Parts: sequence; structure tokens; C-alpha cells
Amino acid sequence: MRRLSANNIEKYFLQEQQRMSALGPLDLEISPGEFICILGESGCGKSTFLRILAGLEIPTAGNVSMDDRPITGPDYRRAVVFQNPALLPWLTVQENISLGFKIRGERVPKDLVQQTIQLVGIDGFEKAKPKTLSGGMAQRAAIARALVSNPDVLLMDEPFGALDALTRMRMQEALIDIWNRHRVTIVFITHDIDEALVLASRIVVMTPRPGKIARVFDVSQKRSRARSDAEFLKMRACIADELVQSFKESREFEWGRMA
Ligand SMILES: Nc1ncnc2c1ncn2[C@@H]1O[C@H](COP(=O)(O)OP(=O)(O)OP(=O)(O)O)[C@@H](O)[C@H]1O
Ligand SMILES: [Mg+2]
Repeated sequence: MRRLSANNIEKYFLQEQQRMSALGPLDLEISPGEFICILGESGCGKSTFLRILAGLEIPTAGNVSMDDRPITGPDYRRAVVFQNPALLPWLTVQENISLGFKIRGERVPKDLVQQTIQLVGIDGFEKAKPKTLSGGMAQRAAIARALVSNPDVLLMDEPFGALDALTRMRMQEALIDIWNRHRVTIVFITHDIDEALVLASRIVVMTPRPGKIARVFDVSQKRSRARSDAEFLKMRACIADELVQSFKESREFEWGRMA
């Protein structure tokens, strides 16, 4: 369990020799053991923000910290699951999942590796190479690789986006179970309002690029949350309205600038 803080962060990229503002300014405090979901339109800077929290990207302005220590690079205590599985093609599923232990020169806990493979439902494919897996199975292997090191923070970038609806719901339940048991701090990006409402303790809605925080919703209902529940449906409508509203405001701003 770790506390993450983003203080007034901004990120600019160079695109065709122009400075392009991708993110911020943005402030966010994430308490230890919180489960945060981030929603926002494509290109608003969600992955950029997650990469900054992971230490894979340095903000142009502002700073990020974990337990008051500046984040200056990647750390295995902050595991990342990317939008694509990013498995090493020459290693088997089992070897990919065990890789972190090998890199750190630690003994591979074979039982734990096997339990994690079972948890994500790809048992029977331990010796398979990534190219022989379906997209959803490869993504589940990537999730197992992140979980197996028992990280303090899980940074997940649309991890279930490529999964079929049933597997996706099963993975959501599995993730809630992991979070309930270990109270790992989770930052989870999704495009799916229902997914955010099923999972999160807090939902952060971002504005279109450069992504700022449009609004934060507290989700206090107990898990497991029924998607047909009146409170669930009410919040879903509020979040959809917020997304549409912040989209409209940003377009009016763009058009105003062009006029
Ligand atoms: N390495 C980079 N170099 C230049 N521009 C970048 C780079 N990474 C991201 N960008 C730009 O920054 C903006 C935000 O990108 P980002 O990937 O964070 O968006 P996103 O919200 O994750 O989108 P999506 O929902 O489609 O995944 C985009 O306009 C993108 O083109
Ligand atoms: Mg992204």
C-alpha cells in the first residue's frame, strides 16, 4: 500500500517541431489502498499520466511522488499493465510471468507463479509461446506477470479492453478479489463507464487534451455492485453527462480560439 501524489504536473511533447500540450496542469492525491479509475476521451493524456506515475516518463513541469519520495524511474513495487500485452515472444507464458524474479536475481516461487496463472485462467498454456495465444489470453498473461510480484501499486492501462465481455467481467471480479485481499493501490484506465463503476472507489473524469481533472466521483456502494442498481444507473448517467459536457466545453474553447 502506497500513497501517490501528482503535484501540478504538465507534459508537453514535440510534434512536428511544435510544442504540444498533452497533459495538465493536474493535481491528484491517491491514498494507500485506493482503487482509482480514470475516464477520458481518446488522446486526453491518460496513458501519459500513467507512464509518469510508473516513472517511465518525466513530467515537463510539476512532480510525482510515492510516499513523499520523488518518482524518478520505474520500480517493481509499481507494476504496470499496458494497453497491449508486451510479452517477450521468445519466452513461454511461464517464463514471461517469472521474468521479474529472474531479473532481480531472486528464486522463482513456482507455486505462486502457478497460482497466478490459474487466477487469470490460462492454466494449460504455461509452456505456450505468446504468438500462439489469443489476444485476450496474452493480456491475461501480462496481468499475471504484474500480479505475481505482489506489487504495492498496480498501474493498469485499459487492461481488459481486448477481452470478450464474459472474460472481462471475470477479470473484474478477480481484480476486486485481489484488491480486497491485498489492498494494493490501483490506478486503472478505462473507456468503459460501467467498468469504472464496478471497480473504483473514486472515478476521475479527465477533460479532452491537455487532460486536466474535470470532476472526481466517489463511489461508496459496497462491492459487488449490481449494474441494474438504481444508484449505479444514476451515477452512470452523471458521469456520461460530465464527459459530454467537458468535451463540449473544450470544443467551444477550440472554436473560440479559431474564430
Ligand atoms: N511519445 C510521444 N511523442 C509525441 N506525442 C505523444 C507521445 N505520447 C503521447 N503523445 C501525444 O500525447 C497525447 C496524449 O496521449 P496518450 O497516449 O496519453 O492519450 P490517451 O488518453 O491514453 O489516449 P487513448 O485513450 O487513445 O489511449 C496524444 O495527443 C498523443 O499523440
Ligand atoms: Mg492510452
